Amino acid sequence: MAGRWSHLASLTVALALLQVASSEHWLNDYFFTDGNVRAGYDASGQQVAMVSLNQQSGGGGFNSKKKFLFGEFSIRIKLIPGNSAGTVSCFYLSSGDDQYRDEIDMEFMGNSSGQPVVLNTNVWANGDGKKEHQFDLWFDPSADYHTYTIIWNPENIIFKVDNDVIRSFKRYADLPYLNSKPMTVHATLWDGSYWATEKGAIPIDWSNAPFTVSYRDYFANACVGGRQCPADSSKWMYKQPSKAEWGTIAWAEKNYMRYDYCQDGYRFPQGFPAECSRN
Ligand SMILES: *[C@@H]1O[C@H](CO)[C@@H](O)[C@H](O)[C@H]1NC(C)=O
Repeated sequence: MAGRWSHLASLTVALALLQVASSEHWLNDYFFTDGNVRAGYDASGQQVAMVSLNQQSGGGGFNSKKKFLFGEFSIRIKLIPGNSAGTVSCFYLSSGDDQYRDEIDMEFMGNSSGQPVVLNTNVWANGDGKKEHQFDLWFDPSADYHTYTIIWNPENIIFKVDNDVIRSFKRYADLPYLNSKPMTVHATLWDGSYWATEKGAIPIDWSNAPFTVSYRDYFANACVGGRQCPADSSKWMYKQPSKAEWGTIAWAEKNYMRYDYCQDGYRFPQGFPAECSRN
């Protein structure tokens, strides 16, 4: 008996070690890398993924090995310091490149030194991706790591910056919603000179290259391919903003919102998308 127990105990220890090891090597455990990406470790042994952009070889990123249908995804990001105008650093989910794709985006549009970095949040539902809410970040996102979270469940899509919910994209039964196409998780850095900063007026100044974004503490609690959901998925599966979280959404909209597609009459001369008049 004693023999069996110690065998079991050592098996448990081995499993525990395996889990720790996998979070230490999250980049290669969960992602395929592409382009200019390298892994480093901080003093405590946590892995940091550094994605760079330069004029010769372009940018890079990492793409999840698995596809998910609903989940909570977060990562800590330290953005490009100084003049990052023209660059776009992203954390997003996508079902693919086709014209009916689903996508959930958090895109950081760089800026000249000392100017606010804009966070573009967007949702693509069945190929329609004109649903942006953009916010000036209220802190210097290059000074330290901040946590960016996407919660995607059958009721809504929640965007969070650190502990603050800043947006909820709600599902309406009669409108397209992201509830059938599994998506992969991506983090990328690319040249968005034609679009990113002041609508393309400020391109990348390559004399500051290479530009580097650091990612760490990737977290996902998600249903793989839609069928296998983690035991504790109920934490996010039914989540909608609480009263206090509607408060932080209102705070972010009032103080930091720079663009709301539901206010852009030039873009929708035939009338706003249906969901604009539902909230
Ligand atoms: C960059 O800073 C300027 C000046 O404050 C601002 O108008 C602009 O919206 C900022 N962000 C982007 C992405 O252009």
